[in-house]
Amino acid sequence: MNELIDRHGRTHTYLRISLTDHCNLHCLYCNPLLPNTVGSRRKDSLSFDEVLRLIRFFILECGVTKIRLTGGELFVRKGITGFLKTLGEFKRDHPFMLGVTTNGTLLRQHCAVLKSSGVDAVNISVDSLREDRYEKITGQDGLKEVLEAISVVQSAEFESIKINTVVMRGVNDDELAEFAAFAAEKNLHVRFIEYMPFPNNAWDRQSFMSWRDMKRRIQEKYELIPKISDVHAVGKEYLIGGQKGIIGFITPVSEHFCGSCNRLRLTASGRIKACLFSLPEQEFDVAPLLRGGGTEKEIHAGILAALGMKWKVHPPAEQLAAGGRSTMTGIGG
Ligand SMILES: C[S@@+](CC[C@H](N)C(=O)[O-])C[C@H]1O[C@@H](n2cnc3c(N)ncnc32)[C@H](O)[C@@H]1O
Repeated sequence: MNELIDRHGRTHTYLRISLTDHCNLHCLYCNPLLPNTVGSRRKDSLSFDEVLRLIRFFILECGVTKIRLTGGELFVRKGITGFLKTLGEFKRDHPFMLGVTTNGTLLRQHCAVLKSSGVDAVNISVDSLREDRYEKITGQDGLKEVLEAISVVQSAEFESIKINTVVMRGVNDDELAEFAAFAAEKNLHVRFIEYMPFPNNAWDRQSFMSWRDMKRRIQEKYELIPKISDVHAVGKEYLIGGQKGIIGFITPVSEHFCGSCNRLRLTASGRIKACLFSLPEQEFDVAPLLRGGGTEKEIHAGILAALGMKWKVHPPAEQLAAGGRSTMTGIGG
């Protein structure tokens, strides 16, 4: 077994894969400047066969036990249904946890294939429960469709369904209690994510809200009871007193969780990132090996090289806001 251990002793068992850096939404915090490119993909994206070869290698030979497919928006990529079916066949013989992260706009029509392909976990991004504001944040009028898709996936009984909400002060922070009510009413797990800086967004300290401030705001209306979470869970989780649903906070900016990090990322174009915030020189580009007859041994060596450069703790937010790094659509969150 080629275990993926970095120089700080962290074992990596979780791979997040961005299948495309294209998205049909233009969320303020993620993809604000790129043109709408539904149905196409960058020429240099890994092919599905290349992604499948890597998945087989990570699962069968590197000790990876969990994979999440993300983007961009995975459902805008042509051929996604066939890819999911092939992946599902592999998963039947070699079980692992399989999740997807989606903006939900095209989820309803893909729910059946997710289920039949053995997808365990579905995360859906919803940053506002108000139609006009949803459109302002995402650039598209589609909240109703996303809320319907959530009901459909709930009926399909996936092992885990989570709602991701990026909280920006002055944009949607006044909806925190509404989201808690939504979680309680629909029996959902809603995770509030601290707004992270990327070179293509307008992050600054004024627009940032820490998880502690979010929690205080929700506690004005609801009792939050701490819940014991898995050691690798990135969220701090709470039950909503006397009600259904779970509230989580993901705190990469105010309280990093680097110490228990077990994550690797594969970008749409084939770069292995050992940290969400890694710099290009800390990454390993696996595409040339995949396309030039590279062996599994060479691929493993490249991954270990990227792991060897992984920070013990990623740099602070202000430093990360500076340019030079990839955007979230390419990395996949
Ligand atoms: C890059 S998106 C891609 C998947 C899918 N299109 C979606 O909307 O969920 C994956 C996750 O990253 C989160 N994300 C993107 N940019 C972010 C930022 N600047 N700060 C915090 N979270 C961010 C999104 O909210 C989403 O949950």
